[in-house]
Amino acid sequence: MKRIPDPSLFVIFGGTGDLARRKLLPALANLLHDVRLGPESRIVAVAIETNLDDDAYRAFARTALTEAGLPDADIAALLPRLHYQTIGRADGPATSAEFQALATRLTLLEAEHGLPGNRAFYLALPPQAFVPTIDGLGGAGLNKSRGWTRVVVEKPFGHDHASAAALNRVVHAWYDESQVYRIDHYLGKDTVQNLLVLRFANTIFESIWNRDRIEAVQITVAEDLGVGTRAGYYDRSGALRDMVQNHLTQLLTLIAMEIPSAYEADAIRYEKIKVLRSLRRLDLGDVVFGQYAAGESHGAPVPGYLDEAGIPPTSTTETFVGMRVFVDNWRWSGVPFYLRTGKRMGKSLSQIAVRLRDTPTSLFASYDEPRETADVLLVTLQPDPGFSLHFDVKVPGAEFRMVRIPLGFRYRELFEEVPEAYETLLLDVMSGDQTLFVHSDEVDHSWRFYSELIANPPAPAPYPAGSWGPPEADALALPERELWQERFAEPRRGSDS
Ligand code: BG6
Repeated sequence: MKRIPDPSLFVIFGGTGDLARRKLLPALANLLHDVRLGPESRIVAVAIETNLDDDAYRAFARTALTEAGLPDADIAALLPRLHYQTIGRADGPATSAEFQALATRLTLLEAEHGLPGNRAFYLALPPQAFVPTIDGLGGAGLNKSRGWTRVVVEKPFGHDHASAAALNRVVHAWYDESQVYRIDHYLGKDTVQNLLVLRFANTIFESIWNRDRIEAVQITVAEDLGVGTRAGYYDRSGALRDMVQNHLTQLLTLIAMEIPSAYEADAIRYEKIKVLRSLRRLDLGDVVFGQYAAGESHGAPVPGYLDEAGIPPTSTTETFVGMRVFVDNWRWSGVPFYLRTGKRMGKSLSQIAVRLRDTPTSLFASYDEPRETADVLLVTLQPDPGFSLHFDVKVPGAEFRMVRIPLGFRYRELFEEVPEAYETLLLDVMSGDQTLFVHSDEVDHSWRFYSELIANPPAPAPYPAGSWGPPEADALALPERELWQERFAEPRRGSDS
């Protein structure tokens, strides 16, 4: 059934920022196009720019939406629903009078458009602005209204365990957990949600989803891009905080979790928290940090991290993390989970590789080349989303030879288009569905798990841009016969070539 949430005010803090421009405004325009925005809903952009009013903001939004490639008709439909309110300044937080002025403006807009008082506050802000903004909202009484009130907090949610706990305390001082939507945009990706469908709607996978049948799991989120224009943020963050603590750890919980009692937020989040609680204390010897050096991207030379604009030449920030973790519970005992992410890697690829155990005896050993890899289920999240199960078949002919072939599906061959993560997530916020948002206990356990590593970060090993990370990471994954997945993603043995 098509979800059409009740009309609301959608308030974007950071309304002139990069996220609003590239993701939030296009997602709202698409939701409007799909008739999924409540009929009278309005969007209020809030930012520090003093030279904007509603009309000027609409001009700003028109440019942003045009750049995002939206059709003129969809842009024209969204613009009249946009409003603008100045609040705060570059060198300091907004005053309580400014939050009061915002409250008054929201009440006026609701009266003018006959809105029932439902409000979502989306904090698309730099992390240091979260606490003052939440306090400002609460202090102005914007933590409740005639209808529902929800607050959406972008990542990163904290910088470490202590700061995340402090942020949670401020959030909970004003808002109940049921009002809080912590974003991890990976959860909004259709392909990520499909992991749960793959696992729990198909008996075939659940029956092999355990330590008896699975030898290892690899989660890779590789990016070919470098740090780009985000030097200031990234150099303070690094790959562990930017990608591992949130996106990769969320993927790990979805792969490892038990079957929830229902497909609803509390049940799913409960199972994810259980996974986080079952993580074996991280062995720091099982972690490799890397930092990209000069190399190539798409055939063109690119600078190393230390030569990127805005990066201090002595920076020890990691742009690559490879690690081995274990989920110490009945289902996964002894199965290594390899997590890997990096900037400026060989190619952009987000993929989960579930490697099945070998057959106990090799009936065809005398006919075959030495077996290098077992059967593997690949779940590709991007750039070409789909599933494929790689297994062996006999090559037709008098000689007995085998070849590894993929059996699978690709989204783009079956479906028209996969919606953007932010579209799904904004609709969920407006519909009150917290399933794809991160609970405070998840944040807490996840930061806690990485605390020791954060306190004792290994020195990053250099790797050339365009490679698959430092050799130390290969060594991590090669204790026995492990290989990082990209080495055997393609059919490779017994082929005619
Ligand atoms: C963001 C990180 O959360 O995710 C970025 O801050 C990263 O550094 C991005 O590039 C990757 O997202 P996606 O959807 O392109 O895989």
